[in-house]
Amino acid sequence: MTRSELSRRLSAVIPNADLEVVALPEVPGIRLALLQQSYPQHLLDNDTVAKIMNTPMYWAFCWASGQVLARFILDNPHYVKGRRVLDFGAGSGVVAVAAAIAGARSVVVCDTDPLALLACTCNAELNGVVLEHASSLDSYSGEIDIILASDVLYDRANLSWLQVFLNRAPSVLVADSRVRDFSAENYQLLSANSSYTFPDLDESQEFRRVKVYLGCRT
Ligand SMILES: C[S@@+](CC[C@H](N)C(=O)[O-])C[C@H]1O[C@@H](n2cnc3c(N)ncnc32)[C@H](O)[C@@H]1O
Repeated sequence: MTRSELSRRLSAVIPNADLEVVALPEVPGIRLALLQQSYPQHLLDNDTVAKIMNTPMYWAFCWASGQVLARFILDNPHYVKGRRVLDFGAGSGVVAVAAAIAGARSVVVCDTDPLALLACTCNAELNGVVLEHASSLDSYSGEIDIILASDVLYDRANLSWLQVFLNRAPSVLVADSRVRDFSAENYQLLSANSSYTFPDLDESQEFRRVKVYLGCRT
């Protein structure tokens, strides 16, 4: 039911597009329902591209930063194990699913897009985990031990969220490939890896270099 509703909403914006369940190339232990790889993205006409820009379906992709942060969490589970986690800008929920698999005490997916929250439910079911929902950080009143955020700094105005995250939680993991001159108080670089958005959007090399930062309250 959840997946068929997502498929219906997807094809209303992108003609003949459907979802397919795939194991992520770099995190094969996680399966997600994403835009089918074979979809001929290069054949989209201008009207459809305009429609997509007005109704971005971020949840139908696993962004390069999401794939890297999910891998990082599974390789370094101590960041989330036994902790109350919130995945900010969850999209498909890839990072939240990784946190749940890695042993988080609870995981909240936070996204302003109701369809993203539906996609998170679908992907949680596919991976046998349970995720709570929040439609914004402000509306969530529960305790948070760590905030996870991947590919949410695509707009420079969003850089102010880095401090908001630390006001809300004692630690933060951010994965990003968009900000070249990342320098934020109380954040340090942990790792840098090459990756890509899935299905592949043929983004430039620059956007395939994903860095993971740890933010800690002083
Ligand atoms: C590029 S997607 C990244 C999705 C996922 N984290 C990943 O890496 O695959 C960014 C997501 O942030 C969400 N978003 C944008 N502004 C937000 C806000 N103020 N609060 C919560 N989510 C937000 C969007 O709806 C979208 O799902």
